[in-house]
This record gives sequence, structure tokens and C-alpha cells, in this order.
Amino acid sequence: MTDARAIHLADYQPFSHLIEHVALTFHLSPNATRVQARLAVRPNPAREQGLDLRLDGEGLRLVRLAVDGRELTVLPDETGLTIRAADLPDTAFVLETEVEIAPEGNTALEGLYMSRGMYCTQCEAEGFRKITFYPDRPDVMARFRVRVNGDHPVLLSNGNLVDQGPGWTEWDDPWPKPAYLFALVAGDLRAHSATFRTLSGRDVALNIWVRPGDEGRCAYAMDSLIRSMKWDEQVYGREYDLDIFNIVAVDDFNMGAMENKGLNIFNSKFVLASPETATDDDFARIEAIIAHEYFHNWTGNRITCRDWFQLCLKEGLTVYRDQQFTGDMRSHAVKRIEDVLMLRARQFREDQGPLSHAVRPESYVEINNFYTATIYEKGAEVIGMLRRLVGDDGYARALDLYFDRHDGQAATIEDWLCVFQDATGRDLTHFTRWYSEAGTPRLKVSDDFNNDTYTLHFEQENYATPGQPVKWAKVLPISVGMLNPNGDDLLPTTVLEMTHMRQSFAFEGLATRPVASVLRGFSAPVVLERAVSAEERAFLLAHDTDPFNKWEAGRALAKDLLARMVTEGAAIGPGWLEAMARVAQDGSLDPAFRALCLRLPSEDDMAQTLHAAGHVPDPAGIYAGRRRMGDALARRLAPDLPGLIASLAEPGPFTPDARAAGRRALRLAALSLLSRVDGGTAARAAYRAADNMTEEVGALSCLLDIGQGAEELARFEARWRSDRNVMDKWFALQIAYAAPDRAAEVTQTLTQHPDFDWKNPNRFRSVIGALSGHHAGFHHSSGAAYALVAEWLLRLDPLNPQTAARMSTAFDTWPRYDADRQAMVREALQRMLATDGLSRDLTEMAVRMLGD
Ligand code: TRP
Ligand code: ZN
Repeated sequence: MTDARAIHLADYQPFSHLIEHVALTFHLSPNATRVQARLAVRPNPAREQGLDLRLDGEGLRLVRLAVDGRELTVLPDETGLTIRAADLPDTAFVLETEVEIAPEGNTALEGLYMSRGMYCTQCEAEGFRKITFYPDRPDVMARFRVRVNGDHPVLLSNGNLVDQGPGWTEWDDPWPKPAYLFALVAGDLRAHSATFRTLSGRDVALNIWVRPGDEGRCAYAMDSLIRSMKWDEQVYGREYDLDIFNIVAVDDFNMGAMENKGLNIFNSKFVLASPETATDDDFARIEAIIAHEYFHNWTGNRITCRDWFQLCLKEGLTVYRDQQFTGDMRSHAVKRIEDVLMLRARQFREDQGPLSHAVRPESYVEINNFYTATIYEKGAEVIGMLRRLVGDDGYARALDLYFDRHDGQAATIEDWLCVFQDATGRDLTHFTRWYSEAGTPRLKVSDDFNNDTYTLHFEQENYATPGQPVKWAKVLPISVGMLNPNGDDLLPTTVLEMTHMRQSFAFEGLATRPVASVLRGFSAPVVLERAVSAEERAFLLAHDTDPFNKWEAGRALAKDLLARMVTEGAAIGPGWLEAMARVAQDGSLDPAFRALCLRLPSEDDMAQTLHAAGHVPDPAGIYAGRRRMGDALARRLAPDLPGLIASLAEPGPFTPDARAAGRRALRLAALSLLSRVDGGTAARAAYRAADNMTEEVGALSCLLDIGQGAEELARFEARWRSDRNVMDKWFALQIAYAAPDRAAEVTQTLTQHPDFDWKNPNRFRSVIGALSGHHAGFHHSSGAAYALVAEWLLRLDPLNPQTAARMSTAFDTWPRYDADRQAMVREALQRMLATDGLSRDLTEMAVRMLGD
């Protein structure tokens, strides 16, 4: 996008000065917080000398500015202030500022803001400039000392607590850090505490800070934290580096959580959990996010990013690490399938639409718009490929070198790739395309068998994406296995390295034609195009020894069938039903895996696939076809479902571990099918008997799915009215299960509910986000849902542009659909752009989605 305000990677320059130390003093007050800053500054020897000093600052009332004690009159502009070189010594000096800010009026939830009476901060990416004048860029790293004065009993900041008295605390963070990792919290909070002894024998005080009354819901987060700390020591050799580690749960938060040094701040829904209030999915997410933020202490904080173009350096790597962790804690097979489901649903979607961008973009207008599935999830996939190419040992050596060489630095993707080259001797020049070129490669596969030789032929296509018309071949690690017709493994899994647009690989000395299992473990983030017969897919579903490809075979069977149903009116034959029945009954398979196999492909996934195959997807047709599949599967499995459900009952009290969760997942999948044939009798009983939120929500979903559950919904509301996180589920469920022609209306009604607190991002997402996530409802031909979502985005934008812009991605798939729908979405986006005072965030998104 060409925009005067765009920032370009190519323009990078080191900052004019170095900040050696920062001392901050806060006097907290809702409408007039005073922030005094004392910066120890010196000219940066890496730059020419005698430069002006430019500080970022937004919405700050400057009270005082002094250089080496001498007061200066400087007039700030909209985005900061400049101190002329003539007013600065040419050696080290001390810059003092004092500003006033009003956290109470801060609805953007960026900078210092208030959430239900407590103060908290969110500085990544560029929120620190809303707290004080400062070079707010990640390559400026400094040691911080912070004094907090306030009325609240708990006053927290980064680092170690060095002193305190009535109404104040003082914190020192010995590790140089960029300003985006600064944090401050003040509130009436209670701690759930524990101690962790590190590998080298240091004791670390761990605290999870929550509102009074929530202390009893912290145990799982604490347990996850302790397991994360151990795991990072054992697997990456990384120890924690302060005396104290604090986590705070906040109700009003734009994203999931934030890795501020020594003071992680979390969306409360990713901390608080009890069996009564959190589902198995909630427990799993809490474990993963606690781990993610903790792992950032090394990959993000000790080694940070030179500039925001390098965001995937910390995010891709930290996602990769949290995925490994979850796999180790739970099941690698199940985790890989879930991650690929997510990758396809979010990243492939993004990559195949107007918002497609590289893992390392080259320009942006608003950096908050680039915390995307591409940076995070594709960023992690790229690391998985690197590891497949250099091997586990090579990866371990490269990571050791990375931590050794770059500790304390603000690094780049070049630095990252260089450690792999240096540690393994492998030339990665070609591989860098994964970072610079956007788009999901399509990989066409064919095969032949002659004279005892089986050959796989591959061809990759790299389609044009916005701003990148021409692409080159990518390096693809293609993991392949061969099965005998009797189902035995013929060859151990091998990684083929594809480096050209077209390439063939021959396997000699085979007596019979093998069945190939291609792209095992989803070894590269590509769309595989391979004409495979239904029989061969069913064979792989039954026999593949690679769990990912086993699941993938079943998924492909279902998608092939659904595609033929909606495009050719095909009927549901016995093939898919029998294959599913075998999986459902196979007691040798992990229940969690079986539950995943029984999950039908999502409507959005189907629309994406149909569009890629040259069709214009019909949302209503996909919805109807998918329901018919569910009904047919329910009828086929009906006789066995009660037995299956009974066999999966968990005796004893609820435990959130993967084994128990997997059994519940399969039981609820079976209950959902049973509900399609028993009129909801079993689900109603299950709802009444439920003693945990997984089963309560699960049974309620079964009822809503068949158009029932009104009474249960009312009971749910009465029971949970005062619990925000649980009520988010109540809002979202009703919309998710609404009939497509009623989804907008149901949403509209819920926006009038007294508890629809739309300024709270979680609540906004659970209502407006649920409508955008309802494929057939959102894309209903009336356009009512498009209009409603657009209206609410416009209402949210002036208050919280970051969340409004993030949620506008609901519209990014519009080019897939028919002309009428396209026109309606374009009109909605154009109406946004015509709105006075539209934020830079939402403007950038609308412009990119329109593609003009
Ligand atoms: N760095 C955070 C993470 O990956 C996410 C993050 C970025 C964030 N910007 C944010 C969180 C703004 C909250 C608000 O964990
Ligand atoms: Zn992160």
C-alpha cells in the first residue's frame, strides 16, 4: 500500500542516542497521573554526531523538561517532541521530563489505563509513548528503575522489588529492555503464590495477582507456569533471571496476554480457571498462553527485535516453542492436528485474500495491524521447516548459538538465519524467501510406477499476492512415507527437499506399487493438490502410521464429499460413513484423536477450498450440505452412540489433563450426533447432570444445535450472570448456533442485553465476533450481518481502534463470493473509509481489504 504514513524496513537507521538508564516516578491518579522521567542519555557512536533528539509522545501534557538540570521550553507536536542538537551537550547528559496523563479516559487500552478500578499498562507495540516522552522503538534498550506512588494496596512494576513503604514501591530491572516491555499495575489484588527453584538453585517468588474472590481459580495457571519454567530449563537450557515473576489478570484487554519483563499481564480469561467455570479448551489455552508469555522471557525479552518488521523473530519462535511444549505436555499428534486446523482457518485464509503479507513485511502503516496469523503461525511453521532441514541436533546447536551470540541484543531475521548457517554449515540463502514472499504455495503431486521404481512428481505454484506479482520456488521439506498394500510401513519417513518449481523423486527396488503418504506431519505450510481416490484415502485413514496424515486422509474424504455435494448435488454414499464408523469405534485410537476425526470440516474452510478450486462458494449450500453430512453420520452411528458415550464416562472428580479432556471431547462429539437423532433427550439429561463447564457448555451446544435449549440457556444465565468470563460463552453460543437467516437478528437482540458491555473487548468479541465467525450467518444473502458488524466496528473504532481494526478482518474473504455479496462488503468498507475521524488502524485495514 502506498501511504505517506507508511514505515519501511529499508529506511531503518539506528537511533541517534543511547539511553543507558531510565528512572520513572509515577503519582497515580485517575485523571491526572504524573509521570516523571529521568533518562541518562548519550550520543550513539554508531550514528553521525550532533543529531537532534526526537522523542515519541502522544496525548501527554508536558509539565517540565530539563537537560542536565537546565529547563528548556519545547513545544510538543502530535507525535512527540524534538530537542535541537544545539540545546544538547555532545557527551552524556541527563534528560528530565514530567508529564500528566489521564488513565481513566483511556478506552483504547494502550498505554496506562484503568480496568474496573485497577491501573494497568499495555505498551507493545507503541503504547509507551502514551505514558512518557521516549524513543519508543525496540532497539533502544535501557535499564529501568520505577517508583510507584498510589493509594492501591498492590503496586507492581518490572524487575525486582527493591524498596517499599506505605503508598509506594520501588522496582529495579537489571536487564536492559525496550520500552514496549515496561509494565505497571496498581490495584486491590490478591496473590496466589508459589516458589520455583531454578536449575542453578535460585529461588524465584511466583505470584498470580487477581481480584479478591478469584484466588481460587489460579491453581491451573500456576501449575502451567511451573511446568513451563522447568521445560525451558530442560529443553532449551534457559533459566529465569529475576527474583520474582508476577502475572496479573485483567478484564479489559485487547489481546490474549503480554510478556512484560517479570510482570506478565493477562486477559483474565487466560488465567482464571476452575472445573465449574472453564472448559477443557480453556484449560488448554491457559496452559499454552502461560507458556508462551513465559518463553518470551528469552525469545523476545533477553533477545528482542531490532524493529517491528522483525516481529516474527520473537513471535514465530515463541509460538513454535509453546507448540513443542504443549505437544510434550499432552499429545504431539493431537497438537499438530489442532495447529494445522488453526493455521488453515486463520493463516491460509489471510494468505489467500487481500491481507496477505510476508512473514517479514516490508512496510506498514499501523504496526498493531501486523500481529497476524502470518507473523505468529506461519512464523512458527517456517521454524519447523528450518528444523526439518537442519535436523534436531542442528536446531539445538543453532539455538544455543543464538542465545550465546545475541543475548542482550535487538536482533534481526538475518541474525537468526546466520546462527543456523554458522551452527550447521548449511547455506540458507534460498530459504530466506519464506520470510520475504507472501502467499501459500500450492503443491501439485502425481506419481507413477515402472520397473520396480516408484516416482513422485512435484510441482509448486507460488501465486501473486498484493504487491508481489512474481514469486520464486520455495525450499520445501516434504516428509514422505510409503505403505505396502497390506498396510505395513515400507520405508521409514524421509524428508525430500524440493528446491525447484518442478522436481521428481524416485524410489527404486519396490516389488509392488506402494501407497504414498505425502507431507507427513504437515511438513511444509502448503496446499497439497493430489488426485487421490476415495479408496486410497480410506486406506490411509485406516493404515497410515503418521497420525497427522491419518487424520488428514479422513478430512480429505469429508471435504471431497462435501465439495461434490454442494457443486454437483452428489449424495452421501457409504464410503465416508463406513470410514468414520471405523474410526469412531476403534478403541486403540486416542479418544482426542477420534474426536478430531469426527469433527466435520468448517464451512469457512470449505468456502476457501471451493474458491481455490475455481468455484464461487454458496454459504447457504455449504451450511445445508454440512448439516446433511452430520445428520447422515448421526443416523449411521446411532446404534453405537449410547454405548460409546457410556464407555467414556469419567469416574471421580474432574481433572483437566489431556487424557480426561480427550475422553470428554469424544463423548461430547458422540452426544452431539446422538442429539440429531434422539430429539435432545440425552443432551438434556447430560446438561442437568453436568458438574463441570466442559459438559455444561457441551450439552447446551448439542441442544442449541438442534434448535432447542431455550430453557437451559435461561438457567445458564441465571446461574452465571455475575461471572463475566462464563457469560461471554452464553453470548457467543446463541449466535454460533443460530440459524443462518436469524444470526444477525439474534446478535442484534443480544446487543440490547444489559450485560452487553461493548467497551469490553472480550464481550465485544463474544457477540460481534461470534456473528463474523458464523459463516452462513455472516454471509447471509440479506447483507444484514455485514451491515451490523460494520456498524459496530464503526462504533468501537473511536474508542478502541486496535480491536476494531483486528475484528474488521471478518471482511477479508469477500473476493471469494458472488457479485452481490462482493458489492455489499465493498460498500460497507467504503462507508467506513468515508467516516470522519476513522482511525489509522481501521483505515489501513479497509484500504488493504478493498485493494485499491
Ligand atoms: N506480544 C504479545 C504476545 O504475543 C501480544 C501483544 C502484542 C499484545 N500487542 C499486544 C497483547 C497488545 C495485548 C495488547 O503474547
Ligand atoms: Zn507472543
